[in-house]
Amino acid sequence: MKTLARICWVTAALYAVLGMSFGIYMAASGDHTLSPAHGHLNLVGWASIALYGTFYTLVPTAAESRLAGVQVILAEVGVIIMVPGIAMAIMNAGEGLAKAGATLVLLSALLFLIIVARSTGRATSGG
Ligand code: HEM
Ligand code: HEM
Repeated sequence: MKTLARICWVTAALYAVLGMSFGIYMAASGDHTLSPAHGHLNLVGWASIALYGTFYTLVPTAAESRLAGVQVILAEVGVIIMVPGIAMAIMNAGEGLAKAGATLVLLSALLFLIIVARSTGRATSGG
C-alpha cells in the first residue's frame, strides 16, 4: 500500500481507539459533558480520515500529488487541534483552538474535493 493511504489508515485507527476509549470512559463515569469532543474525534479523526485513506487506496494516482500530502497533513493537524479545542470551548476556556482546528479540517475537505474532482475526472475520461 502507498505511504499516504497507510498514514491515513494507521492514524484513523489510532483516533478510533482513542475516541472509543473516550466514549467508554464517558459511559462509565456518567459524565457526558465532553461528548461533542468524543464525537468529533471519532467523526473527523476516525471516519473522515479512514475515508480519505480508502479513496487514496482506490485511486492511487490521486495520492501521488503534493496536494494530496498537504490535504492529509491539514486533516491530521486539524483533528489534533480541533478535538482539544472543542473540549476547551465546552469548558469555557476559549474557542480559538476549536476555530483554528475546524478551519484546517474544512480546508482539508476543500482540497479533497479538488483532488477527487481532478483524479476521478481523469479516470472517467480514460475509461
Ligand atoms: C466504544 C465505542 C463508543 C462508546 C462507548 C461511545 C459512547 C458515547 C457516549 C456515552 C456518548 C454521550 C451520549 C449522550 O450524552 O447522549 C456518545 C456520544 C456520541 N458519540 Fe460515541 N461512543 C463510541 C463510539 C463512537 C463512534 C465510533 C462514533 C462515530 C463514528 C461516535 C460518535 C458519537 C457522536 C456523534 C456523539 C454525540 C456527540 C455530541 O454530543 O455532539 N461514538 N458516545
Ligand atoms: C469543520 C468541521 C466540523 C465542525 C466545525 C462541526 C461542528 C459541529 C457543532 C458545533 C456541533 C454541535 C455540537 C453540540 O451539540 O454541542 C456538531 C455536532 C455534530 N457533528 Fe459536527 N462539525 C464538523 C465536522 C463534522 C463531521 C466531518 C461529521 C461527520 C462525519 C460531523 C458530525 C456531527 C454529528 C453526528 C454531530 C452531533 C449531532 C447531534 O448530537 O445531534 N461533524 N458539529
